Amino acid sequence: MFARGLLRSATLARTIISHQSKIGINSSSSSVIKNHKFIQTIGLRGFQQSSINNHGHLHKPKPGEELHITFITKDGQQHTYEVAEGDNILDIAQAHNLDMEGACGGSCACSTCHVIVDPEFYDEIPEPDDDENDMLDLAFGLTETSRLGCQVHMTKELDGIRVALPAMTRNLQSKDFN
Ligand code: FES
Repeated sequence: MFARGLLRSATLARTIISHQSKIGINSSSSSVIKNHKFIQTIGLRGFQQSSINNHGHLHKPKPGEELHITFITKDGQQHTYEVAEGDNILDIAQAHNLDMEGACGGSCACSTCHVIVDPEFYDEIPEPDDDENDMLDLAFGLTETSRLGCQVHMTKELDGIRVALPAMTRNLQSKDFN
């Protein structure tokens, strides 16, 4: 498992560098340029932004401490929300009625909260543990920057993060093995 983690990290590093190089991003680029290039790269269309609300399980961000997350849905639409530190991506998505099943309720026992993280932000997220890696291995469309939304909590470092929802998710059940 440790060796696989090292391999995953090395491959990820190459992927990020390659991706950034392809889309013309370097460490000195402004965030505006980074956003623009990421959007161009994955071919996005619309853009929506919500005001601060207190949804479901989410915490209300303190004034001046709002963090931002943008979801890119399967139809290419963007949805940006102001959220509080500590909220996880699954809760944020579900509170805004985005298409993220979260079949196990956030207990790291499925892959239906799979998201693809913008490489610009991937390294700001703590490494996945063994349980998350095991579940990610079952996810449809696994990428080098895939994570489980329920395991990623918003931090100041993730302010402005962009995540894409994969075209499909898989929730394996015992009958799937018959
Ligand atoms: S909701 Fe099941 S692993 Fe995230």
